[in-house]
Amino acid sequence: MKMTIKGKTILNGEVEISSSKNAILPILAASLLTDDIIEINKVPNINDVIIISKLLTQLGKNVKQEPSRLLLEGNCNAYHPPYELVRQIRASFLIMGPLLARKGKVRVALPGGCSIGTRPIDLHLKGFQALGADISLNSGDVVAKANQLIGTHIYLDYPSVGATENLIMAAAMAKGVSHIENAALEPEIVDLANFINSMGGKINGAGTNVIKIEGVRELKGIKYTPIPDRIEAGTYMVAVAATGGDALIKNIIPEHLKAITAKLIESGAEVSESEDYLRIRREAKIKPVYIKTLPYPGFPTDMQAQFMAYLSCSLGSSVISESVFENRFMHVQELARMGADIKTEGRIAIIRGVKKLTGAKVKASDLRAGAALVIAALIAQGDTILLESEHVDRGYENIASKLNAMGAQIENE
Ligand code: EPZ
Repeated sequence: MKMTIKGKTILNGEVEISSSKNAILPILAASLLTDDIIEINKVPNINDVIIISKLLTQLGKNVKQEPSRLLLEGNCNAYHPPYELVRQIRASFLIMGPLLARKGKVRVALPGGCSIGTRPIDLHLKGFQALGADISLNSGDVVAKANQLIGTHIYLDYPSVGATENLIMAAAMAKGVSHIENAALEPEIVDLANFINSMGGKINGAGTNVIKIEGVRELKGIKYTPIPDRIEAGTYMVAVAATGGDALIKNIIPEHLKAITAKLIESGAEVSESEDYLRIRREAKIKPVYIKTLPYPGFPTDMQAQFMAYLSCSLGSSVISESVFENRFMHVQELARMGADIKTEGRIAIIRGVKKLTGAKVKASDLRAGAALVIAALIAQGDTILLESEHVDRGYENIASKLNAMGAQIENE
């Protein structure tokens, strides 16, 4: 797939944010905790949801996809999803917790590398072992077994989002009480806990670094609408600021955007917040800033590439320190091909502002790098062709039509 993006665009008007990809994926996995009907509303039409839906179907779930609604029902009778599906998306690992809790057995291919780092699952497995599971390796797959998970104290060496989510789902139906210490605080974890509590779960403390989970014997079907996507919202905020536009970002939770808003204001943009929307505009020159990516509520690593594109035309040198992933600068080379002046040293990038970017043929290596290249293309002189743009469609619903409605000229091919 490729996108042709016209340069020198100014984004105005408004954009409606979709439900959060990173909230929906664990929630879909958590649907395995019951055989009852689960109805998820306002589901965005993005590839990652389609892949996880296929995975759940392979496990025996009936998954009915309606326009922006998903219905899931039935008993999952398998525990070993096909490698071809698991390898497509890291969120596949999120089925381990629920399958262990309900079936006592799960087998998935160990993660390969991906473009932003090795991304092991050692913290997930250590937590499952603490809950009483036996973990073994079998020709490239990890197999976890447990007749009955027993509640316990789990200390996470790193506040891993996925490990926190997986262990919440496993502990939700374990025997007894569990505490996850040094848990991740991301809003998507709070959303998962709210979803499971609506099903009859007993989870307290989500959104803090100690989560208490009281195991229950049964969880019921419910209807649920996930939170808005804070990274999609942040991406549009940066795009409007980068183009010097003035627009409303609608269907947001401002609290979830604090770090992004603060950095945009520091760089010279103006943001005014209301209850579920905000207005962002930029008239002043872009000021350089220092960014260090951190677990929530710090500056999100998923916004790092987009900010780098924005800062490539700032008045001076900015520094970005990527503390979460060991290899999340794949977009640097592509931005450099558009004229950006960026030096990287390990996990540090120094971005020296240039007067302009020039359109070029570039390639998306992952979802957020792709989004960064779309932003760079909007401000560049001339047209840009973004190859492998399917990466962007994994997490941004209708991005071309949303941007075109704000004044962009993007063709999806
Ligand atoms: C989630 O990935 C998100 N994905 C990522 O978003 C996001 O970048 C990441 O959290 C950090 O915020 C989803 O929610 C589906 P982690 P996850 O476990 O759970 C290391 C996007 O663009 N680690 O918090 O995989 C890991 O290698 C995606 O939407 C271990 O060492 O992130 C990484 O360096 C990209 N061992 C760091 O922790 C483990 O067992 C953070 O990983 C687990 C993680």
